[in-house]
Amino acid sequence: MPHAIHIHNQGAPEVMQWVEVPDLQPGTSEVLLRQTAVGLNYIDVYQRSGGYKLDLPACIGMEGVGIIDAIGDGVEGVKVGDRVGYVMGPPGSYAEQRVYPAERLIPLPADINDTQAAGMLLKGLTVSYLIHRTFVPQAGDTVLMHAAAGGVGMIACQWLKQRGVTVIGTVGSEEKAEIVKNYGCDYPIIYTRENFSERVMEITDGEGVPVVYDGVGASVHDGSLACLARFGTYVNFGAASGHIPPVAGAALAGRSLYFTRPGLAPHTANGNLTLEIANYLFDAVRQGVKVEINHKYELRNAVEAHRALEARATTGSTVFSV
Ligand SMILES: NC(=O)c1ccc[n+]([C@@H]2O[C@H](COP(=O)([O-])OP(=O)(O)OC[C@H]3O[C@@H](n4cnc5c(N)ncnc54)[C@H](OP(=O)(O)O)[C@@H]3O)[C@@H](O)[C@H]2O)c1
Repeated sequence: MPHAIHIHNQGAPEVMQWVEVPDLQPGTSEVLLRQTAVGLNYIDVYQRSGGYKLDLPACIGMEGVGIIDAIGDGVEGVKVGDRVGYVMGPPGSYAEQRVYPAERLIPLPADINDTQAAGMLLKGLTVSYLIHRTFVPQAGDTVLMHAAAGGVGMIACQWLKQRGVTVIGTVGSEEKAEIVKNYGCDYPIIYTRENFSERVMEITDGEGVPVVYDGVGASVHDGSLACLARFGTYVNFGAASGHIPPVAGAALAGRSLYFTRPGLAPHTANGNLTLEIANYLFDAVRQGVKVEINHKYELRNAVEAHRALEARATTGSTVFSV
C-alpha cells in the first residue's frame, strides 16, 4: 500500500504522521500521479498549524512532481508515462501517490530534473506572477524584497537582478546576508537588528522604493508602508511572521500608495494562466536564475523539515524525496 503524511488535528509539526493509505483511482478529468519529489512551502505550515482551515483528517501540501500512472475519463493533452509537476490545491502533495486535475498539470522540460522542479515550481511561479502581473518593475528601479534568503526570496532577487533591477533584501542573520549577496541582492539588510525602513530611505536618498514585496507580514507591515515612494505599491503576499492588520485607506492617502494582497491560486486557476507564468520561469532559469535546494529530506521526515522552516533555519528551497 502507498504511504502519505496525514494530520488528524492541526497543530505543531508532530501532528504529521506517515501512514499507509488505500490505492487511488483518477476520477473524471484527473490523473493518478506516482510522485518522485515534493516541494516544502510556507503554505504547508499554515495548513498544518491551523492558519488555514482544512477538513480533517487531511493530507497537506501544494506542490509535487511525478509520473502519470493512470488517466481518468475526459483527460486530454497528457498521457500515461508523462513527467509533470503541479502547484496549488487541492492539498495533498505529501504522498507517494495522488490524484490531481489534469488541466492544471505543468509538463516538465527535459532540462529541468524532478528535484529542481519541486524546488522551484510553487516559489518560482509566485515570483513570476509577482513581477509580471502584480507590479512590473523596470530596469533601473530599486525595490525591496523581504525574506530575501528564503525560497521565494532567493529566486526573486536573482530574477529581478536579471531584469536590471537593484534589489534591497531583508534577512534574519549575518550568514544569510552573506549568502544573498551572491544571489542578486545588492543591499542586504539584517532586519532583526537594523531599522530596515530607515536603511531603505538612506539607500534610496530619501525617495523610498516603488514596490515592497512582502511575504513576512505582521513584523514588517509598518516599516514597509513607511519606506514606499510616492505612488508606491505595497504587495503583501504572505504571513511568515503573522497576518498584517487591515490596511486603512488613510494610511495610503499621504503618498497615494497602492495596496494589494495577491495569491498564486487565481494566477494558476487554469492551464493557460499556469503555463504562461511557468514559461517565464523556465526561461529565467535557462538564462541563469539558480534554484538552490539547500535542504533535502525524505517525505516521511516532514516533521524535521517543518521545524527547520519555522525556526528560520533554512535558506533557498527544501525538497522531499518520495
Ligand atoms: N501569496 C502567494 O501567492 C504565495 C506563494 C508562495 C509563498 N507565499 C508566501 O511567501 C513567503 C515565503 O514563502 P517560502 O515558502 O519561500 O518561505 P521562506 O521564505 O523560505 O521561509 C520564510 C522566511 O520568512 C522569514 N521570517 C520572518 N519572520 C519570521 C517568523 N516569525 N517565522 C518564520 N519565518 C520568518 C525567515 O527568513 P529570515 O530569517 O531571513 O527573516 C524565513 O526563512 C511565505 O509567507 C509564504 O506564505 C505566498
